[in-house]
Amino acid sequence: MTAAPGRDEEDDILSLRHHLVNWLFTPLYLLLLFSTVTGYIAALKLSNQPYDLVLTERARLMASRFDLIPEAEPVTEADLVPEDAEHLSFTLFDAGNRPLLGNASLPRPRPIDFAATGPLLRNTSLAGEKVRVLTLHFRTTRRTPGTEYVLVMAEPVKDRLFLGRSILGNIVIPQFIFILIAGLAVWLGLKRGFEPLERLRRAVARRRSDDLSPLDEAMAPGEVRPLIREVNALIERLKAMMDQQRRFVANAAHQLRTPFAGLRAQAELARRAEAPPGVHAALDGICEGADRCSRLVNQLLTLARNEPEARAEEGLTDLDLNRIAQETTMDWVPEAVRKDIDLGFEGAVGELPLRGYDGALRDLIGNLLDNAIRYTSPGGRVTLRTGPGPWLRVEDNGPGIAPEERTKVFDRFYRVAGSGQPGSGLGLAIVHEVAQRHHARIAVEAGEGGKGTVFRVDFNVGGR
Ligand SMILES: Nc1ncnc2c1ncn2[C@@H]1O[C@H](COP(=O)(O)OP(=O)(O)OP(=O)(O)O)[C@@H](O)[C@H]1O
Ligand SMILES: [Mg+2]
Repeated sequence: MTAAPGRDEEDDILSLRHHLVNWLFTPLYLLLLFSTVTGYIAALKLSNQPYDLVLTERARLMASRFDLIPEAEPVTEADLVPEDAEHLSFTLFDAGNRPLLGNASLPRPRPIDFAATGPLLRNTSLAGEKVRVLTLHFRTTRRTPGTEYVLVMAEPVKDRLFLGRSILGNIVIPQFIFILIAGLAVWLGLKRGFEPLERLRRAVARRRSDDLSPLDEAMAPGEVRPLIREVNALIERLKAMMDQQRRFVANAAHQLRTPFAGLRAQAELARRAEAPPGVHAALDGICEGADRCSRLVNQLLTLARNEPEARAEEGLTDLDLNRIAQETTMDWVPEAVRKDIDLGFEGAVGELPLRGYDGALRDLIGNLLDNAIRYTSPGGRVTLRTGPGPWLRVEDNGPGIAPEERTKVFDRFYRVAGSGQPGSGLGLAIVHEVAQRHHARIAVEAGEGGKGTVFRVDFNVGGR
């Protein structure tokens, strides 16, 4: 069964390192294989030469010893075999191809052996053992001069093989070690060479999602710089496109503001006038719809103002978070009273200095209070607390937000189904943007005893 390649596996297939190592080491290993084979052949040839020379010399010596013994005297094997060559097998054949004497029954000489003027060497096997066979055709000069003989000698090849293999070992082992060292050096070199790319990857991974600043070209190796340049150009185009889109939404919202306000004013006027039954209810509906539209348009404008690309540094002042929180709570008292919610403010003692944007912070607190009041049933309790840090918390004893929804609620236009309340899902997106603008950390958790919701905003947490 074959599984679809995973991401890591795919990365590996496309990896430069993979390619380099493959292209470098496959030829190197093929080369090693080739040099082992040719080395083996050369080693065998080299190891044969001295052995063949000795064998030939010994054969010549035996032939001349044989020639020295007078014809009348009987010849024994011991007369012929040199002292240091007891292990040699030999048989002497006469011109009629009859074995005269010898210490082994070696194959009879072939006609070609009788025709040869010098020694002939070949490999064969005798009784299951590989041997090197030498045939030497010679004529006597003293013992019945002119008689032809063929001396056949055999020597096991295992000594030669041993020599051949040790020569081969001496060639191949250093080569293998050399390739291993080369491989290690290449691997380390590649690792070092890829380090800048790895640093670049980490820098990109660390980026905040709204950071659209260009990548630092200097961090990349020369070969990758053109790619970084192209990526930067792409980021630039993306930024321009997002900017255009943001301006479009802001402009559209801005343009819609006046007509919605006009619509509401006209409906209000019509409501005051005499009208047939049923028309008033319709006009109420129009007023409510116009209100919702105005709210949505204002939310879109607030969101656009707090987006990273539009964040202007002007307006940044030294503020007192305690005062802003208190004033915003006061703004929401009428709504809380209308809904029979016990809205409380428990501020820290004294000022809570904070460098920030007044209007944006009021939007943040306002949206949190709006939600808390809106989603908590009548008779419920909503409390805004502040503390040194500074931090602020909006707590309610409403229905709470399920853990799996807690990150999603900050998405634009995301609403938890079934709340039964009107809204467009932009409130917490605004809260998120304003928190980001102040480099504040925002968290949602369940209230005391797992009931209700707590929104916690911590300023000055070093998220800068
Ligand atoms: N205090 C809270 N208690 C329970 N649910 C909440 C609370 N605050 C937010 N939510 C849930 O999170 C969702 C998203 O809130 P958000 O403020 O972004 O949008 P909204 O209130 O639905 O619409 P808008 O604020 O744009 O009028 C809400 O629909 C609601 O279900
Ligand atoms: Mg809301």
